Amino acid sequence: MSQKNIILTGFMGTGKSTLGRRLALELGYRFIDTDTEIESRVGRTIAELFQEQGEQIFRQREEELVRELARQQGLVISTGGGLVMNPRNVTALQASGQIICLTASPEEILERVSAQQHIRPLLQEKNPLNKIKVMLQERDPIYSSFKQFSTSKKTQEELVSQLLEWIRNS
Ligand code: S3P
Repeated sequence: MSQKNIILTGFMGTGKSTLGRRLALELGYRFIDTDTEIESRVGRTIAELFQEQGEQIFRQREEELVRELARQQGLVISTGGGLVMNPRNVTALQASGQIICLTASPEEILERVSAQQHIRPLLQEKNPLNKIKVMLQERDPIYSSFKQFSTSKKTQEELVSQLLEWIRNS
């Protein structure tokens, strides 16, 4: 049986990691969160990596990791929100499986990221809601090129079952 990878992408705070972990469990796939994997490889948090080495080095780490993961099968991969802005990452991931983009409103995104512990360097702004709206608009051409799943007003259970159904039928 083919075990094409399932790749969850989308903006920060759309629930990629939580949902990815659940999907992997249901499918019997291995779960990889690209940010967590990079953090464990470099021995720093993403915020530290941005601060000490800059965003460009982080983006290189993402690309190296994608090249490696795209050669494997049976993975559920939750990506950092900016990873798919690099077209080489999209090509490699698309060849290895299906990319699904999770969506949420700017207000929901702000609420979720504010409730979380880990720091998103790109949202350390005076007006994070405005930054989210601007980034969403900039990224929309890429995000909307993937199959989209709205996470608004849905429980985890609903999301997991809807995604599983879609994966099984596609
Ligand atoms: C980023 C999203 C973050 C992390 C980094 C940059 C982005 O991941 O990779 O802070 O450019 O959207 P999450 O989407 O998991 O928050």
